[in-house]
Amino acid sequence: MQTVIAGPERDWLIRAKEYILAGEVVAFHTETVYGLGADARNDKAVRRIFALKGRPADNPLIAHVHADYEIKRLVDEFPAYAEKLRRAFLPGPLTLVCPSTGKVSGFVSCGLNTLAIRVPSSPVAQAFLREVNLPIVAPSANLSGHVSPVTAQHVFQDFEGKIPLILDGGVCEGGIESTVLDCTGPVPRILRAGLVTREMIADVAGACEVYSFRSGEKPKSPGLAYRHYVPHCKTASFSAEELSDAVALYRKEEQEGGKPCFLCENGLVKQLAGYAVLDLGENAEQMAHRLYLHLHTAEEIATLLIAVLPRPQEGGVMDGVLNRLTRACGGGHGV
Ligand code: TXA
Ligand code: MG
Repeated sequence: MQTVIAGPERDWLIRAKEYILAGEVVAFHTETVYGLGADARNDKAVRRIFALKGRPADNPLIAHVHADYEIKRLVDEFPAYAEKLRRAFLPGPLTLVCPSTGKVSGFVSCGLNTLAIRVPSSPVAQAFLREVNLPIVAPSANLSGHVSPVTAQHVFQDFEGKIPLILDGGVCEGGIESTVLDCTGPVPRILRAGLVTREMIADVAGACEVYSFRSGEKPKSPGLAYRHYVPHCKTASFSAEELSDAVALYRKEEQEGGKPCFLCENGLVKQLAGYAVLDLGENAEQMAHRLYLHLHTAEEIATLLIAVLPRPQEGGVMDGVLNRLTRACGGGHGV
């Protein structure tokens, strides 16, 4: 199969709809990361997504709909706070998990009685979802465990020859996946941190909890149990206080004939003059935008990526950035 990368022009949207109705898989741009889309009602198409990604069978998928789609067709018991959040943040990078009406394939939620719903704001995603006018399941368009894609080229690298079409919208502005929010309890609870932060949710909903997954437990959101976002090169991570150890590891890799590279916030770039550095930027939003771009670049240019972690700050977008960064780079010094 030939994989075409195309813009969201009319002809390609029509083609995308034909593929989806035929049970095929189409990748598309969103404001967070690229998604791998299939008809959420079609068992075979949904199972194909799991097969293509090599995704564990217990990790449920998010159903994506356009901005005028009646969400209540898909979920029961949409609490009052979820309605407020929908008005405040959708379309946008927030996914709401609610009790399901069971109108989509049983494979979408992997046996859970809830469904995750997302209304992406990217014009390409909206045009595609309007054209098909169906709920579309879309995990990030990467092989399971690999770094999520933020360009059409990244999708192509993982799925060339396996899917017919990638709807290109350029680089994803947000850069990390949507905030996943459990809306089944009296208070909303963040299952996966993202660009819509705890503070933003609490402002609108009155309160917001954060679910923290302890290993060994059955996770509330199955995706939390897996190592994720891992680039093909070796990785290590250090705190800013351990910079001299990080430099020692860099030198060792170089002496052994490898190509090390640092990944750090802009504040450290001057101190690392003379070394190969990927600059994450100055604030959490910039870091979110650049993180996966840099992880993909590291695969191309480095044998060892050494992350110097930004200082932890409670809350904000930094929660989502640090979560991805530590899971990508192993959260330790072991190479
Ligand atoms: O930004 C995004 O959300 C991207 C773009 C393509 O829209 N999609 C994405 O999908 O990140 P995926 O499949 O890579 O991650 C979905 C996450 C997983 O952690 C999964 O466990 C969780 O959402 N999830 C899905 N349905 C759930 C449910 N019913 N209950 C709890 N967690 C759920
Ligand atoms: Mg993913």
